[in-house]
Amino acid sequence: MAAETWMIIRRAGLVFMIISLSTLLLYNPSGPLRFFRLSSSCSRSSSLQPLSPKAVVRLNSILKRASMKNNNTVVLTTLNSAWATPNSVLDLFLASFKLGNGTRRFLRHLVIIAMDEKAYNRCRAVHRHCFALRTHGVDFRKEAYFMTPNYLKMTWRRIEFLGIVLQLGYGFIFTDADVMWFRDPFTRFFPDADFQMACDYYKGSPDDMENNANGGFNYVKSNNRTIEFYKFWFSSRETYPKHHDQHVLDKIKSHPYVSEKLRLRIKFLDTAYFGGLCEPSRDLNKVCTMHANCCYGMLNKLHDMKIMLQDWRTFNSLPSKHRNVSIFTW
Ligand SMILES: *[C@@H]1O[C@H](CO)[C@@H](O)[C@H](O)[C@H]1NC(C)=O
Ligand SMILES: *[C@@H]1O[C@H](CO)[C@@H](O)[C@H](O)[C@H]1NC(C)=O
Ligand SMILES: *[C@@H]1O[C@H](CO)[C@@H](O)[C@H](O)[C@H]1NC(C)=O
Ligand SMILES: *[C@@H]1O[C@H](CO)[C@@H](O)[C@H](O)[C@H]1NC(C)=O
Repeated sequence: MAAETWMIIRRAGLVFMIISLSTLLLYNPSGPLRFFRLSSSCSRSSSLQPLSPKAVVRLNSILKRASMKNNNTVVLTTLNSAWATPNSVLDLFLASFKLGNGTRRFLRHLVIIAMDEKAYNRCRAVHRHCFALRTHGVDFRKEAYFMTPNYLKMTWRRIEFLGIVLQLGYGFIFTDADVMWFRDPFTRFFPDADFQMACDYYKGSPDDMENNANGGFNYVKSNNRTIEFYKFWFSSRETYPKHHDQHVLDKIKSHPYVSEKLRLRIKFLDTAYFGGLCEPSRDLNKVCTMHANCCYGMLNKLHDMKIMLQDWRTFNSLPSKHRNVSIFTW
């Protein structure tokens, strides 16, 4: 009984928050930045800061240059210095685009979001589209260990940032840099979805809301529904403190505000095409991307990524009739 009352109060609070947020937005005429100004002034915990107007101009020009011209879409990843050092995650990530079938062309559309200065400098040395996302008061230089306060701040900074990209009118494929690209993912995306994402475990249907989201790979179109959805997602960090973006997504994905009010069209991607080490793709004839997740520690991750690349090379060197599942080492 008490628990139920508590839930009702919390829901009412949430609804009230949404209503006041949208009312404020309605009366604030200052363009695409308005939500982020608002969120920074009302968020309690935050050392996160919205982008300065200058940074938005810079971001916009990078997105414009990098985007696929016919559909305003970019590929985005975030990078910190631990992943940026030579022979580390970034190099293997970029190597996969070059080795993959039909993936090299996406390098032209890839924007690397550097979370610190070292990552930015390394990006500039090896890639053409780099954006420095500054976050004052937080040190993202080291490998941010899962669920530490810095890790949480970094994941929320990312959600906030992706919301800005949508507001600027760009859709994106977000990919963690420990995702290996082997084939063109567009061939497996659902044409009629707003928001589609990879899963840790796939339950057999793209519409099953019980699928566990994997925040490391998703494809989001820019439209009113997704823009509002990212605002809602970002603001929900206050409703579920101490949870990272992916957990919060699992909590809000079936929320009536999302399904009934926004009518966001969500799809989950099959691990046969978008696999991870929680549930690897078993058939290299199908795989588009493989995520070196579900393993902890940098050395393990690098080891797994190298094995994936090696398996892909081996697979491609085989005559096509021998390209079957038996060569797998994952
Ligand atoms: C967007 O454009 C790219 C390159 O021009 C193309 O490969 C991709 O399939 C397009 N995606 C959609 C959803 O139209
Ligand atoms: C690459 O993809 C094309 C078309 O999807 C296919 O015909 C070809 O066999 C693939 N090549 C390799 C090496 O997998
Ligand atoms: C959002 O909705 C408004 C009116 O409801 C419409 O004018 C505008 O074009 C929409 N924007 C996008 C990106 O769909
Ligand atoms: C897989 O390929 C090997 C040769 O590389 C072959 O001997 C084996 O029968 C094939 N297995 C299947 C299931 O096709």
